[in-house]
Amino acid sequence: MKTEDFSFCSRRNMLAGTAMFALGGVAGCSADEGPVMAEAPPLPWKWVPLDPLEAGRRAFRMYPDPVRGGCGSGAYLSILSLLKEQVGYPWTTLPDLMMSHAAAGYGGHGTLCGSLGGASCIINLVAYGLGENGQIFRQMIDRLYYWYAKQEFPTDRFDDISEMPGQIRVQAMSPLCHTSVSKWAMAAGAEISSKAKKERCAKVCGEVVYIVVHAMNEYFEGRWTPPKWEPSAEIAHCIDCHGPDDMWHSKPSLNHQQGHMECMLCHTDHTKKGQKG
Ligand code: HEC
Ligand code: HEC
Repeated sequence: MKTEDFSFCSRRNMLAGTAMFALGGVAGCSADEGPVMAEAPPLPWKWVPLDPLEAGRRAFRMYPDPVRGGCGSGAYLSILSLLKEQVGYPWTTLPDLMMSHAAAGYGGHGTLCGSLGGASCIINLVAYGLGENGQIFRQMIDRLYYWYAKQEFPTDRFDDISEMPGQIRVQAMSPLCHTSVSKWAMAAGAEISSKAKKERCAKVCGEVVYIVVHAMNEYFEGRWTPPKWEPSAEIAHCIDCHGPDDMWHSKPSLNHQQGHMECMLCHTDHTKKGQKG
């Protein structure tokens, strides 16, 4: 490929670029540095009301795609594709494959569910800096992960377009791919490489996207504010001692644990052990 074929400094692109980036920033060229791109406009980027079911179905259908699929891409690209169609720039500048790495809990590591990762990336772009102290995007994401951990997946929302409707439902327990998938696979008697598991994860991806789009629509219509996180009754005492309950260290405490997951998923309650003697 000749440099000119992809360079923004080609004559043709210079002309197109000037118009295209007039809103967004610089379209200059330097002989030494190769292509010079326009700078991305500052966050937040524009949201318009989207159809949550259409977005969820796109995610469900994208999931099995060998290139654009997987949970990370499915969640990100389903919403992004709608924003590209209905808003255009600057969404059109984002690469389709940005969230590919999030599949199977990021690189196959089973950490954060990639659907949550893909959707959170869009939430960040849309809601960064909005709300009280500019923190609404964190609250939205925190609430999304809380919601996810409580869900019994997969929901039946996509059963009408699924080859495997009515799959067994199991609570995810945490936002981790590992607990979400492994607990389900064990209960379903399904292998991780099975069609049934992929179908299940495609539905999880669709459901996460549905919920996120629905919430974002409501937020921008002024009808939804994510509740501030409060520890559940089971872990309130853990947080009292080990807190803080947020990243801004507002309460005096040991202040050496970070996070809002349910502690007893992974820890025993050492304060109860002590009661034995
Ligand atoms: C009354 C205060 C208090 C409460 C309530 C409390 N902790 Fe602790 N926890 C401590 C202290 C103090 C330590 C020791 C810290 C140190 O060594 O620096 C500790 C230690 C720990 C440790 C380190 C390993 C261990 O077991 O010693 C873990 C993990 C832990 N707590 C989790 C929890 C969880 C989960 C809960 C709620 C179910 C909880 N704690 C409730 C005060 C508390
Ligand atoms: C997904 C599993 C998981 C969840 C949920 C979780 N933890 Fe932990 N936590 C761990 C692991 C694993 C360690 C490292 C333990 C070790 O080093 O022995 C740890 C370490 C800690 C430590 C430091 C302990 C030490 O001995 O160094 C504290 C305190 C702690 N967690 C408190 C909490 C509290 C409070 C919660 C709930 C708000 C919580 N954790 C939720 C897995 C978890």
